[in-house]
Amino acid sequence: MQLRTAGALIGIVATLGLSVQVAAETSAEDAKKYRLSIMTSLKGHISAASMTVRGLVDNNGQLVGHAAGLVSSAAELNSIFQEGSAVDDSEALPAIWEQPDKFAAAVKKNQDATVAFQKAVAGGDSDAIGAAFRNMGKSCGGCHDDFRLEDDD
Ligand code: HEC
Repeated sequence: MQLRTAGALIGIVATLGLSVQVAAETSAEDAKKYRLSIMTSLKGHISAASMTVRGLVDNNGQLVGHAAGLVSSAAELNSIFQEGSAVDDSEALPAIWEQPDKFAAAVKKNQDATVAFQKAVAGGDSDAIGAAFRNMGKSCGGCHDDFRLEDDD
């Protein structure tokens, strides 16, 4: 039993070692795919949070988890726009890499807004939660307006 556990652990360590190697040379396709996964995660959390904030579903404390998901996915925005990864049907505009300061500001705005939303959720005041939610949504749309080809969702 103990031996088997040790074997499983070694397996996990080996897998981690491998994934670090792979990450060092992420292909443009995988970088894009990963970016879309993060965006999809942001969308899932913000949609679920929106329905909760609007009272369309019972609030059983799930806002805390959605806020945490938004904060952690937004925290990855700095690293998911690998140069050259606007491949296939990517909607990432060249402006992302041509105007890095402006893009970094749009990233920071969203990160700050997700953290503010998380704080408002922790505070529990529904007006503050609603205001922070709207501000966060604007910061998604603001970046999409300037740096995304189509904004259809
Ligand atoms: C700093 C810029 C930026 C911020 C902030 C941002 N996005 Fe995006 N988002 C993009 C870009 C650029 C794309 C297009 C990526 C591509 O196609 O390669 C995108 C794509 C998407 C997509 C489409 C994914 C797909 O499968 O095609 C969704 C959904 C999305 N974003 C949701 C969100 C939500 C929700 C937020 C806020 C919580 C957000 N985004 C914040 C830049 C941003």
